[in-house]
Amino acid sequence: MKIFNKVILLSFFLSLFSVVYSASSVEKKSNDYLPALNDITDSKSLQRGARNFFNYCAGCHSLKYVRYNQMAKDIGISEEQLNSYLIFTGAAPQDVISMNMLEEDGNRWFGKAPPDLSMITRVNSNTYVYNFLRSFYPDKDSPTGVNNKVKDGTSMPNILWVLQDEMDKKEFDSFVLDIVNFLDYAGEPIKAKRKSLGIWVISFLFIFLILSFALYKDIWKEVK
Ligand code: HEC
Repeated sequence: MKIFNKVILLSFFLSLFSVVYSASSVEKKSNDYLPALNDITDSKSLQRGARNFFNYCAGCHSLKYVRYNQMAKDIGISEEQLNSYLIFTGAAPQDVISMNMLEEDGNRWFGKAPPDLSMITRVNSNTYVYNFLRSFYPDKDSPTGVNNKVKDGTSMPNILWVLQDEMDKKEFDSFVLDIVNFLDYAGEPIKAKRKSLGIWVISFLFIFLILSFALYKDIWKEVK
């Protein structure tokens, strides 16, 4: 019986070790794999992220669950700014953020149509998207001339290569982080509001708890 227990304990530790080891080897794919420390309450970062997205990503990727005018309101820009700086497709402000590429063309051109990015930070994670965009490297065997350390064999070209060349590393990382922040917002436009509302709700419940406790004491003091 004792031996049996020991075997179970040993196999438990072995499986724990293998899980930890495989997780750390995923992280080691690139020694530059960093967490995305974005902040969706930072509206300046969201505005820069939107500018970056519409200039560099919206040609291929849509955000089909987000409307232009709602986005403008949420990130704090006027409708004039929206029309002059962010809408390049002739869309109306109340339209959802789509793009002009047909899915079959996308499949034909890239081998795999560029996915809609509304949910990308929720399906994967902010950190995944952040590192995906920072992990392109030249690969002469690939049709796009690049490959990606985070997603091997990706059909996405390295859209940001000119910037990556021009900017220093810190600048480039923060450029990408703003895009990730914007995509995090797009994944759940109500997130910032939900969080700040949450604080009010918890404070209310806390005050209510104190009041009801005082009331409880008061009522029961007669009984005891
Ligand atoms: C020239 C077209 C094009 C542009 C511009 C482009 N992408 Fe892509 N993107 C693609 C294609 C094609 C895929 C599908 C690649 C795949 O699944 O391998 C893709 C996939 C992705 C993915 C999903 C990766 C995954 O693991 O599934 C993310 C995230 C992404 N793109 C982000 C961006 C961002 C952010 C920008 C702007 C900086 C951008 N893309 C600009 C073509 C493009």
